[in-house]
Amino acid sequence: MPDNATLEYNGQKFEFPVIKGTENELAIDINTLRAKSGMITLDPGYKNTGSCESAITFLDGEKGILRYRGYAIEELAEKADFLEVAYLLIFGELPDKERLEKFHHDIKVESTVDEEMKKILDGFPKSAHPMGVLSSLTSALIAFNPVSVNVSSEKAMYYAIVRIMAKFPVLVAWTLRKKMGLPLDYGDDSLGYVENIHKMMFKKPNKEYVKNKIVIEALDKLLILHADHEQNCSTSTVRMVGSSHAGLFASLSAGISALWGPLHGGANQAVLEMLEAIEADGGDTQKYMAKAKDKNDPFRLMGFGHRVYKNFDPRAKIIKKAADEVLGDLGIEDPVLEIAKDLANEALEDPYFVERKLYPNVDFYSGIIYRALGIPTDMFTVMFALGRLPGWIAQWREMRLRNEPIGRPRQVYIGENLRPFVPLDRR
Ligand code: ACO
Repeated sequence: MPDNATLEYNGQKFEFPVIKGTENELAIDINTLRAKSGMITLDPGYKNTGSCESAITFLDGEKGILRYRGYAIEELAEKADFLEVAYLLIFGELPDKERLEKFHHDIKVESTVDEEMKKILDGFPKSAHPMGVLSSLTSALIAFNPVSVNVSSEKAMYYAIVRIMAKFPVLVAWTLRKKMGLPLDYGDDSLGYVENIHKMMFKKPNKEYVKNKIVIEALDKLLILHADHEQNCSTSTVRMVGSSHAGLFASLSAGISALWGPLHGGANQAVLEMLEAIEADGGDTQKYMAKAKDKNDPFRLMGFGHRVYKNFDPRAKIIKKAADEVLGDLGIEDPVLEIAKDLANEALEDPYFVERKLYPNVDFYSGIIYRALGIPTDMFTVMFALGRLPGWIAQWREMRLRNEPIGRPRQVYIGENLRPFVPLDRR
C-alpha cells in the first residue's frame, strides 16, 4: 500500500502522507496542504474529516461496531458497571478492585456542592429546560472551583476528574428535583454510584427510598451505552472549547449545550414527544411514515438514522432488548410504546428507510426506557449527559495531554467583494 497520496491540481502534484489507525482506517494527513498548495479542503459537517487521533473509542458504522478502549460495547454493557466503564474510558484500562474502590471513595469525598449553588438554581423558573439549567450550573461550578487544572500534574488531573464525577450527579438530581418541586438533597455514601444517583433524583422527603434492582440495572446499562461515541457533535465541542485551554467545567458546559439539540442528544426527548403527538392524533403510524418520506414536509422520524451507523446502531440492539426486559419486568403497558413498536416495524420494511439505511438509533429506545423508569421527558437529554460525562472527560483529558493545537477551522468566503461604504442617507 502506498505511503503517500498525491493531489494533482493545475499541473502541479502535491504529496501527503497516508496514516493508518490501529483498526486499519486510512487517512490523508493534510497538515501541510495549505502551505504547499495554497488551498484548503471544504467539508461541511465534517463528514470526511478527522479532527484528531484518539485511542478512546472505536466505531465502525458500516459493521455496527462500538468499542471503548478495545472492549466491545456488548460485553461492557453485560459485564461491567458504569463506574468501571467511566474509569476505563478516562484512564485507559479497566480498574482492579483496589483502584475502583479508591476512585469511588474519592468521588464520595467530593460529592457535595457549595450550598450557594442552590441560590443560582433558585433563580431559574420551574419552566426552564433542564438542559439549560444543567449547562448553567456546570458553568457556575467554575466559580466555586476557580483554579484551572494543571494538566502536567497527574494528581491535579485526577482530582479535577473526581470532582466533576462527584458533583455532576448532584447537579443532575437538583435539576430534576427543582422541576418536580422536591427539596434539594445530597447522596448516600453507602450506595453504589448509579444507585446513589437514582436515590438523589427520586427520594421523596416523606418516604423511605426503596431500591429497585431492575431499574438500577437498566439505568446502569443506559449510562454505559451513552458513555462515549468518539468525535460526535458534543464531544467535538468539548475538545474544541478545551483546545483554547478553557477549563474542564467550561468545556463540559459547552458540550451539554451541544448535546441539547434535537439532532443530537435532544433526539430522545423528541422521540417521545413525537410518539405522544402521534398517539394524540389517533395513533395512525402510516400517516406519519408518509410525512417522514414527503420531501415537502419538514417532519422527520425522530430516533431514526445516524450520521455514522449506516447498518445498525449496536447500542440500539442492546437497548431494545433492555427495553423489552424492563417493560416486561415492570409490567408496563403503554399505548405510546405500541406506537413505537409499530413505527420501528414499518420503517424496517419500508424501501425509503431501507434504501437510506435509516434504522432506529439508541435514542429511539432510550426514551422508551426512561419513560418506563418514570423520568420526565424533558430530563431525557440530561440522562444522556450524565452517561456521556466520562466520555467527555476522557476526550478532554486526551486532548490536553496530547497538547493539541487550538481548534480553528478555515472557510471558503462566498460574500461580497470589497465595496465602498454607502452613507445612511444614500441607502
Ligand atoms: N426521517 C426521515 N428521513 C430521514 C431521516 C429521518 N429521521 N434521517 C435522514 N433522513 C433522510 C434525509 O432526508 C436524506 O434523504 P435524501 O437522501 O432523500 O435527501 C437521507 O435520509 C440522508 O439524511 P441526512 O440528513 O443527510 O443524514 P445525516 O447523516 O446528515 O443525518 C441524522 C443523520 C441527523 C441523525 C438524521 O438521520 C436525523 O435527523 N435523524 C433524526 C434525529 C435523530 O434521531 N437524531 C439522533 C442521532 S443519534 C445521537 O445523537 C445519539
